[in-house]
Amino acid sequence: MKFPIRQTRMEVRTEDMKYITIALAKGRLAKQTLALLEQTGITCDEMKDKETRKLIFVNEELGLRFFLSKTSDVPTYVEYGAADIGVVGSDTIMEEGRKVLEVLDLGLGQCDMCVAGPVSAKELLKKNQVIRVASKYPKIAKDYFYNKKHQTVEIIKLNGSVELAPIVGLSEVIVDIVETGSTLRANGLEVLEKICPLSARVIVNEASMKLQRERITKLVRDLKGALEQNV
Ligand code: PRP
Repeated sequence: MKFPIRQTRMEVRTEDMKYITIALAKGRLAKQTLALLEQTGITCDEMKDKETRKLIFVNEELGLRFFLSKTSDVPTYVEYGAADIGVVGSDTIMEEGRKVLEVLDLGLGQCDMCVAGPVSAKELLKKNQVIRVASKYPKIAKDYFYNKKHQTVEIIKLNGSVELAPIVGLSEVIVDIVETGSTLRANGLEVLEKICPLSARVIVNEASMKLQRERITKLVRDLKGALEQNV
């Protein structure tokens, strides 16, 4: 039997309201977040199965749904309400510039967004010269050079192994994440300027915050409690 379109839509909405959907960035951060959630009594055993090709996981009892997405897509899912909550690095939040509420700093994955390059490039950053800047984060790089340093630069977008760029002559400097600094050191580069510290944040969809305020604020409060216990 076919439902009239309106009725079907309403059913979907009621079904969605039953769940709080959490988008996690694939990789180490997802694992750390799941460990933290477990401390608050939220588990999702299905997600621990390394062999699974499933993309979405449900804990019916708690009315929670989890999915793993590409890091840069997490703010998109949250802005559009496909996920009520997301956990992602502040680098991605800044770069994507999506309309989401940032509600908690988890302090996980702490690192810095930096300008890096060979030590000889330091002078170029002082002289307001037009230089080339390679980055996986063109928006952050542009904002830093244009709005903070007032230096006109050419930004070159790369998708990874950004440290290569100054070595092979693609750019004078890079804007990238520095955690331990070992990738820079191994390639004869160093931090020339620090842009900002970074860490994982909890983000929330604006409408979800209104419609499911109680459940979402409890979850965030519990996460905060778990973090305080770990100090
Ligand atoms: C990140 C970042 C640096 C490196 C920094 O790269 O872009 O390359 O980690 O870490 P470190 O300071 O501890 O050496 P990622 O591992 O995500 O790979 P990618 O460069 O291919 O994006």
